[in-house]
Amino acid sequence: METNLDWASLPFGYVPTDYNVRCTYRDGKWGDIEVSQSETINMHMAATCLHYGQEVFEGLKAFRGKDGKIRIFRLKENAKRIRSSAEGLVMEPIPEDLFLKMCVMAVKLNERFVPPYGSGASLYLRPLEIGMTPRVGVSPASEYMFIIFVSPVGPYFKSGFGTTSICITRDYDRVAPKGTGRFKTGGNYAASLKAGMTAKDKGYSAVLFLDPREKKYLDECGPANFFAIKNGVYITPASDSILPSITNMSLQQLAKDMGIPVEARHIPVEELAEVDEAAACGTAAVASPIGYIDDLDKNVRYVIAKDGKPGPITTKLYNALRAIQLGEVEDIHGWNHVMGI
Ligand SMILES: Cc1ncc(COP(=O)(O)O)c(C=O)c1O
Repeated sequence: METNLDWASLPFGYVPTDYNVRCTYRDGKWGDIEVSQSETINMHMAATCLHYGQEVFEGLKAFRGKDGKIRIFRLKENAKRIRSSAEGLVMEPIPEDLFLKMCVMAVKLNERFVPPYGSGASLYLRPLEIGMTPRVGVSPASEYMFIIFVSPVGPYFKSGFGTTSICITRDYDRVAPKGTGRFKTGGNYAASLKAGMTAKDKGYSAVLFLDPREKKYLDECGPANFFAIKNGVYITPASDSILPSITNMSLQQLAKDMGIPVEARHIPVEELAEVDEAAACGTAAVASPIGYIDDLDKNVRYVIAKDGKPGPITTKLYNALRAIQLGEVEDIHGWNHVMGI
């Protein structure tokens, strides 16, 4: 059955689909995969996910390609990252093959929600794992639920690929120096809401967080990593307190393929005065070019895009990644899982 969704105007938000898939870890093993039509879950009020934040998640996308086939981008890397996040929160790591199988099932069961090629929209997959055991004392659960739901999402750049402005503030940290920044867990996002909402109220698209120990170096950009182009080199923060972005990893590889050197290192805030291009990168936008960055505490504006337009290297990298996701060019690194439906 066709959907009557207007793909191009869909927001990045929740749209109900036909099915979600679930699996429970109980008595030391993962059970059978359950296909569900329910949008809710039944859980004990003392479940560890509710009290002690035992929750990890992922975000990845499936695209309808030029040839009509559906491709899930970097499925295996997301499988690895959710395992690492689970280990970081003393949760049961999801076997990689279970993660892959359930992602493919979730897309297949909701195939009619995969937007058509050319619409700019995609199907977002949201896998999440939660601790289900009732506990009152602080300790990890012994029972876990793994769920994947999907939602069609519209194009990120609705009025064309353009720049946004971001800000730096030392009033908030997203994570602690040896905390959970490397893991994709809800608590990090709760901790970033105040800073993010304050920035939005002031007209910025996001906060560029600084390293939480010294507040000297760039860390990451709200729910995205940060990269810049300086004298033809791709530079990106090396930090233990940021999420290892799979998009950033992919863009770094594409940069190398194009002969652009890549440096993952500390980037002092003041170095922003010397960069030629900058962008926030992640699954949602691929790369969202930055026009200027205001350091609110120092009252300094770093104008990155002098003409207000996305820079040439960011644009080239963005187009190269999109072309792979949409099956327009050969996927030489084997990043897509091409569905056999
Ligand atoms: C905090 C944070 N950093 C970076 C990213 C980008 O990661 P990825 O490229 O894997 O989507 C995300 C989310 O997507 C994020 O939530």
